[in-house]
Amino acid sequence: MNMSLKVGVLTGGGDCPGLHPVIRAVVRKGIEVYSYNMIGLYHGWAGLLDKKSGPLDLRAVSGILHRGGTILGTSRTNPAKVDDGYEKAKKNFKEMGLDALIAIGGEDTLGVANKLGKMGLHIVGVPKTIDNDLSATDFTFGFDTSVNIIMEAIDRLHTTAESHDRVMVVEVMGRHAGWLAVYGGIAGGGDVILIPEEPFELDKICELIKKRHARGKNFSIVVASEGAQPKEGAAGGEFFTKDKSLDAFGHVKLGGIGEALAKALEQRTGFETRSVVLGHIQRGGSPTAFDRVLGTRFGIAAIDLVHKNNFGKMVALQGNKIVAVPLEKAITKLKTVDKELYDIAKVFFG
Ligand code: F6P
Repeated sequence: MNMSLKVGVLTGGGDCPGLHPVIRAVVRKGIEVYSYNMIGLYHGWAGLLDKKSGPLDLRAVSGILHRGGTILGTSRTNPAKVDDGYEKAKKNFKEMGLDALIAIGGEDTLGVANKLGKMGLHIVGVPKTIDNDLSATDFTFGFDTSVNIIMEAIDRLHTTAESHDRVMVVEVMGRHAGWLAVYGGIAGGGDVILIPEEPFELDKICELIKKRHARGKNFSIVVASEGAQPKEGAAGGEFFTKDKSLDAFGHVKLGGIGEALAKALEQRTGFETRSVVLGHIQRGGSPTAFDRVLGTRFGIAAIDLVHKNNFGKMVALQGNKIVAVPLEKAITKLKTVDKELYDIAKVFFG
């Protein structure tokens, strides 16, 4: 019997609505059903590298279900960027007396989890990201909340765009996958949706907007994924980035497409245009019911995997079932938008 296992939990990468339902589920079942000693590691992998942790008891997880963010803190700390980082993590895991660790994160956090798993540590992963770009799971938690925030923002932009006869360009997150743009755009009735998976042509966007205005509409909403890129021209094949710097996992910091596009559209069409960057609002606040339920199911499945000694796995949603897949499968390939779904969105362009 696994009576007195010490199980750590950490949240890594960008925060995401739904982290608390996962943490709460892991802790409630871990303590009440399996009698584990649960501890929280603070600020992602930094918690393991710096041995910063604290008890994660029933009191700590009480009243957190509906709250955004993470009580454990998070960071984009990468052990590969620390001297002997992976060896240090392994050593600290032992010194902290951990029997198992549940890592809640996206491709970067789970990539580290996978490497540490291969070094013999007992790790289970939980897929988290508003970007929904992890393979092997139909949805990640956080995505639904973010889509709802985008939809509500577009609803609000409609009324002001319509009143002023303007084109509004809405820049949304998602990195190199257009899931947020496509789901948010379809739900909000975007008149053009641009995604990284299909480089865009400025002339075509202008044509669509002009066509729409020619049939009596006096406003348009363009939803642009931060990772979308033009097919041709001076910026052809290049992402819009905030600056030249990279984060600890080597990702460029995307941003700027909304503003650039708004200027170009106004110049070419003559229609007054404004841009709005939804930014971190997309990651803040309470999770939706869907994300609370998904997070809860993922949390229960993760602690069950620990109990079954089934490590090196990530919990995933496939159809309506929660399954366990090798961590490797989740991180090797980015899950990009289905062409079929984007074709549905296109029916409503212009
Ligand atoms: O991966 C989640 C995400 O919100 C992306 O959509 C976005 O590009 C990135 O994180 C922003 O990162 P940061 O919080 O470091 O600005």
